[in-house]
Amino acid sequence: MLGLSIESSCDETSVAILKDGREVLSNVVSTQIDIHKEFGGVVPEIASRKHLTNISYVVDEALKEAKVDLKDIEYIGVTYGPGLVGALLVGVSYAKSLAYALNIPIVPTHHIEGHIAANYISNKELKPPFLALVVSGGHSHLIYVKDYTDFEILGKTRDDAVGEAFDKVARTLGLGYPGGPEVSNCALKGKPTYNLPKTKFENYDFSFSGIKTAVINIAHKEGENLKVADMCASFETTVCEELTQNAMRVMKDYNLKKVVLAGGVSANRVLRNMICKEAKKSGYEAFIPDLKYCTDNAAMIGSAAYYNYISGKYYDIKDKLDLNAKANLKVGE
Ligand SMILES: Nc1ncnc2c1ncn2[C@@H]1O[C@H](COP(=O)(O)OP(=O)(O)OP(=O)(O)O)[C@@H](O)[C@H]1O
Ligand SMILES: [Mg+2]
Repeated sequence: MLGLSIESSCDETSVAILKDGREVLSNVVSTQIDIHKEFGGVVPEIASRKHLTNISYVVDEALKEAKVDLKDIEYIGVTYGPGLVGALLVGVSYAKSLAYALNIPIVPTHHIEGHIAANYISNKELKPPFLALVVSGGHSHLIYVKDYTDFEILGKTRDDAVGEAFDKVARTLGLGYPGGPEVSNCALKGKPTYNLPKTKFENYDFSFSGIKTAVINIAHKEGENLKVADMCASFETTVCEELTQNAMRVMKDYNLKKVVLAGGVSANRVLRNMICKEAKKSGYEAFIPDLKYCTDNAAMIGSAAYYNYISGKYYDIKDKLDLNAKANLKVGE
């Protein structure tokens, strides 16, 4: 079964072709990072315009790389939320017209469910149930994945997402965008010598604005004397400990056996090592996505779309043309 998938929720225009939801025949990612770098973050209007100029080329390239003809595609998967509404609309409109022209179903797919599904591509044996620790630019969620299309949010951030905190800390420390890889690379030259606050709630929620503010305050107080590499190492270690400890609490309380890392921050070296080590210590299995499937890409959307499709969650586009982009969309909605 061949599916074409489209991702355009933020600053990557991406199109993939997957066979049976786990085999990636092509995954073309056209990133706009260099364009947004000079503004220190994504500019929504520029992102939408770039998606618009890129999308048909990316579709053509994905078909060419996969050596697949449009007439062999059985369904179109597309990210319809959450994300920047203008950016999402480009992917959704393109997907609707393509599905209409080919007279095939369209599968509306949740971006975060896509991040989780990246693990099905990288770990062929992985099956639900499991706990997903979703850490990205806009989310820090602990999600109980009961089945391929059945999700329950057990904990989430009450303020900043972890990727957002990495990006803001990088900006404070004078490092580039996106901040996660910059902070992590700089941390390699330092030691976690700064004592930064951790938050713990009765339930499984997170909070990262306290630690972000602590970094900003110390940076202002120490000025030129700030040991930037040590601060990066301290921030990275503290945040990864908070994420891992919370995930391990859920594993125990819910008697789960498998833990899965997902989202852009799952590319973080310290977090990948820590989650695998702590899981092993407690007798759990840990799964992480290949680095190329951590940040936004259409292959992960293709995998999530496949499971939606086979479970009957799709539109027959000739009957129902009203699929819309949703900037805010809860997991499992
Ligand atoms: N090695 C890394 N260490 C820490 N953070 C990282 C690393 N690589 C990427 N990130 C962070 O991941 C985030 C990007 O992830 P992603 O592309 O999934 O976010 P998004 O799509 O904007 O948000 P969301 O998926 O929540 O809608 C950025 O905040 C970036 O700094
Ligand atoms: Mg993302």
